[in-house]
Amino acid sequence: MNPKITDWRDKRIWLVGASTGIGAALARSLAGQGARLALSARSADKLAALGCPNALLLPCDVTDNTSLTAAHQTLLAGWGGIDLVIYLAGDYEPMRADAFDLARAEQIIEVNFAGAMRVTASVLPHLQTGSGIAFVASVAGYRGLPNALCYGPGKAALSHFAECLYLDLEARGIGVWAINPGFVQTRLTAKNEFAMPALQSPEQAAEAILAGFSTGGFEIHFPKRFSRLLKLLAILPYRWYFPLIRRFTGE
Ligand SMILES: NC(=O)c1ccc[n+]([C@@H]2O[C@H](COP(=O)([O-])OP(=O)(O)OC[C@H]3O[C@@H](n4cnc5c(N)ncnc54)[C@H](OP(=O)(O)O)[C@@H]3O)[C@@H](O)[C@H]2O)c1
Repeated sequence: MNPKITDWRDKRIWLVGASTGIGAALARSLAGQGARLALSARSADKLAALGCPNALLLPCDVTDNTSLTAAHQTLLAGWGGIDLVIYLAGDYEPMRADAFDLARAEQIIEVNFAGAMRVTASVLPHLQTGSGIAFVASVAGYRGLPNALCYGPGKAALSHFAECLYLDLEARGIGVWAINPGFVQTRLTAKNEFAMPALQSPEQAAEAILAGFSTGGFEIHFPKRFSRLLKLLAILPYRWYFPLIRRFTGE
């Protein structure tokens, strides 16, 4: 399906959403394996504090096309091309119908979905055979969940976008990946007030992502004991799915 990536030495990789959490752990791991990195997020200070030697630091805001395009132009001027883009930028707020906040929901969709489309539009003309783009979505995008009124739909849209792109780009030898993590301990999940099953560290998530790239599959999902259970639930008819989700979540 996708190219298998096992050797990261000298690969030119743009991580969008690299300042904290999973992106920061991925940046450190890839730097340790000899990749050439371009690192983006809004917080220039946090990108610098990652301590990835020789990384191009390209602070930008994915909700602002001018800022994003400027970062991409700087990258092209520095490198001339790109081997892999990994879109990790994300925002999250637990949200239910009894406290639906439209402005906040729109902000979250802007980062989690529209930002990914902006990055794609910018890099697509420059992706060559053998290169690719990966999107960090979430197992929360598989199907509807309580408390996920704006996060889940944005991630479902992102996965769908990745599937369409994959179909369009496969014949040109350009890789497209959907990365669906379960719960990872970061500032985003610190907002959750419930016990998170199979919670992983950002370093474990980074390791699972790099292991996933070595398989050549379209989807990288982890931890398997949790993501496989959600996959199973996702193929059930609604009359079974909804009661089971209520039972598991207590909502
Ligand atoms: N943690 C989990 O359990 C989990 C599970 C499934 C999927 N995910 C996804 O994994 C990705 C990484 O999340 P994380 O948990 O590692 O959270 P995080 O630590 O908050 O990382 C989010 C990253 O996105 C960047 N970002 C946010 N808004 C941005 C904007 N407007 N422009 C540019 N960059 C922006 C942040 O940097 P700045 O604030 O500096 O801009 C940060 O680098 C997200 O897409 C998230 O939805 C997380």
